[in-house]
Amino acid sequence: MRIEVSFNAAQLDELQLRDKNVVVIDVLRASTTVAVALANGAREIIPVATIESAVKISGSLFGEVTLRGGERNGRMIEGFNLGNSPAEYTDATVRGKSIIFCTTNGSVAMAKSRYARRLFVGSFVNLSAIVDAMLEDGEDYVLLCAGKPSGLRSFSIEDAVCAGMMIQKLIQAKKFPLDLPDASRAAATLYKGLGRSLLKLLKLSDHGQYLAEIGFAADLKLCAAVDSVPVVPVQQGTVIKLRKPEERPVAEPDPVRTEPA
Ligand code: MLT
Repeated sequence: MRIEVSFNAAQLDELQLRDKNVVVIDVLRASTTVAVALANGAREIIPVATIESAVKISGSLFGEVTLRGGERNGRMIEGFNLGNSPAEYTDATVRGKSIIFCTTNGSVAMAKSRYARRLFVGSFVNLSAIVDAMLEDGEDYVLLCAGKPSGLRSFSIEDAVCAGMMIQKLIQAKKFPLDLPDASRAAATLYKGLGRSLLKLLKLSDHGQYLAEIGFAADLKLCAAVDSVPVVPVQQGTVIKLRKPEERPVAEPDPVRTEPA
């Protein structure tokens, strides 16, 4: 089971993700928001890379069952119904709704993964559920950290630590031999060094400090709550839905023993 890590989705072309098993990680806040929205009954999430796409798609969908959610510079986009704070995606607001989702990095990484063989959306809030899903068949995975737009501050430490925590849990599961290239080992080492207090990690991170400055300090606690939203958001066609328990691959029965025990 080979686990690759990309620390910045902007560096990859969508064809490099074609037919791969991908977990998109954007802890602050897109992946967390997607998990919360689906857990609260949203029908589906439609990730788009641009505001223009969001407006175009919502024009073709029925207004009453469609919401537009997302952010630019952490704040709700003008003309949208929701920003990107997980706290906004309550049951009362999102149940039964299709959410056209447009954020700076997270939804771009999700849209870039549209040709993946399998796409999960992972964060701290649903970490164990994602790791369990990865362990169902032991296939190779790419942990795709959304990161931030290219430039000096394109590395997102919270996404890297989340990837490292997933890797550490895969190691501890001892279910499959793991092939961990350099970036994967680096992520696991980051988690070992910084994973003791995830809230502190988020508060000290570049984006966490920015979110706190613009009034979203409460989101950091929500995003740091490990396994608080134990769901598996999975791509189905061009949308992301909640994977139902019956959609888990059925475990292969142990081969019937023919020779005497
Ligand atoms: C992103 O997608 O870049 C982040 O989730 C942005 C944010 O929510 O502040």
